[in-house]
Amino acid sequence: MELAQTLFLPLVLCLLSLLTQQSALLVSAGHHHGHHGHHHHHTHRYLFDWRPTKLFVFGDSYSDTGNNMKSVTKSWKYPYGITFPGKPTGRFSDGRVLTDFLAKFVGVKSPIPYKFRNVGVKHLKYGMNFAYGGTGVFNTLVAAPNMTTQIDFFQQFIKDSVFNAQDLHSSVALITLAGNDYAYYLALNNSSEGFKPFITSVVNQLSVNLKRVYDLGVKKIVVTALQPLGCLPGSTAELSFQKCNGTQNLLVGFHNLLLQQAIAKLNNESKSSFIVLDLYTSFMSVLKNKGDHLGSIKFENPLRPCCVGISSEYDCGSVDDSGAKKYTICDNPKSAFFWDGAHPTQQGWLAVYSALQGTLEELY
Ligand SMILES: *[C@@H]1O[C@H](CO)[C@@H](O)[C@H](O)[C@H]1NC(C)=O
Ligand SMILES: *[C@@H]1O[C@H](CO)[C@@H](O)[C@H](O)[C@H]1NC(C)=O
Ligand SMILES: *[C@@H]1O[C@H](CO)[C@@H](O)[C@H](O)[C@H]1NC(C)=O
Ligand SMILES: *[C@@H]1O[C@H](CO)[C@@H](O)[C@H](O)[C@H]1NC(C)=O
Ligand SMILES: *[C@@H]1O[C@H](CO)[C@@H](O)[C@H](O)[C@H]1NC(C)=O
Repeated sequence: MELAQTLFLPLVLCLLSLLTQQSALLVSAGHHHGHHGHHHHHTHRYLFDWRPTKLFVFGDSYSDTGNNMKSVTKSWKYPYGITFPGKPTGRFSDGRVLTDFLAKFVGVKSPIPYKFRNVGVKHLKYGMNFAYGGTGVFNTLVAAPNMTTQIDFFQQFIKDSVFNAQDLHSSVALITLAGNDYAYYLALNNSSEGFKPFITSVVNQLSVNLKRVYDLGVKKIVVTALQPLGCLPGSTAELSFQKCNGTQNLLVGFHNLLLQQAIAKLNNESKSSFIVLDLYTSFMSVLKNKGDHLGSIKFENPLRPCCVGISSEYDCGSVDDSGAKKYTICDNPKSAFFWDGAHPTQQGWLAVYSALQGTLEELY
C-alpha cells in the first residue's frame, strides 16, 4: 500500500500552509478571461432566460485559485503560474485551473479567493472561491478548512447580507472534493477492508453538504466526479508513466457510482439542481485520445508530467538549502497534460473542459 501513499501524497503535500495576503490580489481579482460568452452560450441564456451572475466554489487544489497558504505551499512558488499569469498565484498548475474555465463558461470573472475577502465589496461581484488545496470532505493532513467549514464561511456571508437571495438565485456552485480524503485514509490506515465503508462515509457526508449548499439558495450546483487517481503521475511514476494503476481506479469507480446515486436522489428532491462533471471520463478520454476526434486536444505522452523532481525525494518547485533547483520543466508546458505529480497543466484543463462541454450545456 505504500504505493498508494506515494500516489496521493503529492496532492496532500503540495499544500501544507499558512495565511498571508495581498500580492496576488490584482491578478486574482482583476484578470480577465477574455471573451466569454461564445455565441452558443448566449443562445442558451436567451432560450432559458437564466443568466448566472456569480460563481461560488468549494473544493481542493483542483479549484483553489489562491486560498492556500503562501509560506509553505509550492503553488505560490516558481514555476507555478509560468504560463498564466506569468507568476505564481496559488494555483496548482502552470496556468488556469478548472475554476477559471468554469467561470469563463458561466460568463463571469474567476471569483476572488476567500482569503482576499476584505478588499471591498465590488470585488465580490462574481462570487467567491472558498476552495483550499489539500482539503477534503473530512479533515485531512492539511490544516485548512474542510468542506463543512468552507460552507460555514459562505453561510456567514449570507447571514451578513453580503450575498442576498437574488444573488443566490442567479448563482452556480462548483464543488471538487474527496481525493484528499482518500489520501488521508491511506496515510493513516492501510486496511483494504476498511476502504469501501470509508468511501461510503465520504459520499454520505458529501451529499449532506451538497444539500446544504442547495438549501442556502444556490440555483445550480456542479459537482465533480473523482478523477482517475490511478493515472496521476504520483501513481504512475514507478511504472515510468506508462500505465495507470487499475486497482486505484476501481476504488475511484466505486466512489463515482455512489456519487451518481446520491446525486440522482438529490435531484429527485430538488428540481434537478445538481450536475455531475465527470472528471473520470473526461480525463480518460483525453489520456486515451489518439487524435481521432477532429479538433480535440491530443498529448504525445499524456501520463508524463511537465514538471518533475530530479529524484523521488523532490518534486515540482523543490529547491535545496542554497536555492538550487531540484526539478526539471519540459520545454513546452502546452505539450503536457499533467503539470506536476497530481495536477493538470492549463492545456490539460482546457482539454478536459472541452470534453465536458456537453455536460456543461445542461447548466442552462
Ligand atoms: C496499485 O495500487 C494499489 C493500491 O494502492 C497498490 O497496492 C499496488 O501495488 C499498485 N500497483 C502497481 C502496479 O503499482
Ligand atoms: C470540519 O472541520 C471542523 C474544524 O476542524 C471540525 O470541527 C469538523 O468536525 C470537520 N467536519 C467534518 C465533517 O469532518
Ligand atoms: C500497515 O502498514 C504498516 C507500515 O506502514 C505495516 O507495518 C502494517 O503491518 C500494515 N498493516 C496492515 C494491516 O497491512
Ligand atoms: C482502519 O480501518 C479499520 C477497518 O475498517 C478500522 O477498524 C480502523 O478503525 C481504522 N483505523 C483508523 C486509524 O482509521
Ligand atoms: C423521488 O421522490 C419521490 C417522492 O419525493 C419518491 O416517491 C420516488 O421514489 C423518488 N424516486 C427516486 C428515483 O428516488
